[in-house]
Amino acid sequence: IQRTFIMVKPDGVKRGLIGEIIKRFEQKGFTLLNAELMTISREKAEYHYMELQDKPFFGELVDFITSDSVFAMVWEGENIIEVSRSMIGKTSPLEALPGTIRGDFACSKAENVIHGSDSLLSAEREIANFFDPLSIRPINKDFPYDERKSV
Ligand code: GTP
Ligand code: MG
Repeated sequence: IQRTFIMVKPDGVKRGLIGEIIKRFEQKGFTLLNAELMTISREKAEYHYMELQDKPFFGELVDFITSDSVFAMVWEGENIIEVSRSMIGKTSPLEALPGTIRGDFACSKAENVIHGSDSLLSAEREIANFFDPLSIRPINKDFPYDERKSV
């Protein structure tokens, strides 16, 4: 079982897509562990996107993500990091297929509605950047899919 950090970006929040995005993750069978509407500091945004700090669009990216409210979430499920990335779709609107969140709702590379962690390591770092660990159910505790409990 994995956990990932999913965030509806300011454009997605403004366009009223929070419910649609939660619905898709729920329908897939994933479990919501925490969620909060928040505005984030530049410091938090720069830490979140630290792997992109040398990109020419880094300043623009931080400006955008701090421009208005985001809806930050922690989700849990089998292989959720890879599966959620495929549900989200590619970064480029030319490559994001219909049926994916970006394919259905975004036509801009910068304002692309949603973020999802791309690895176990970044998921851990991103969840810790946005949420107090004590606010999230401990991993595997009383969870029906706990590998240690299933036969
Ligand atoms: P995230 O889930 O948001 O991390 O997107 P991603 O993993 O599909 O793409 P990546 O991590 O490479 O880039 C992070 C974000 O930077 C993208 O989602 C875009 O919002 C933004 N971004 C990527 N390319 C550009 C660009 O050329 N210009 C601007 N302004 N933003 C970009
Ligand atoms: Mg990324």
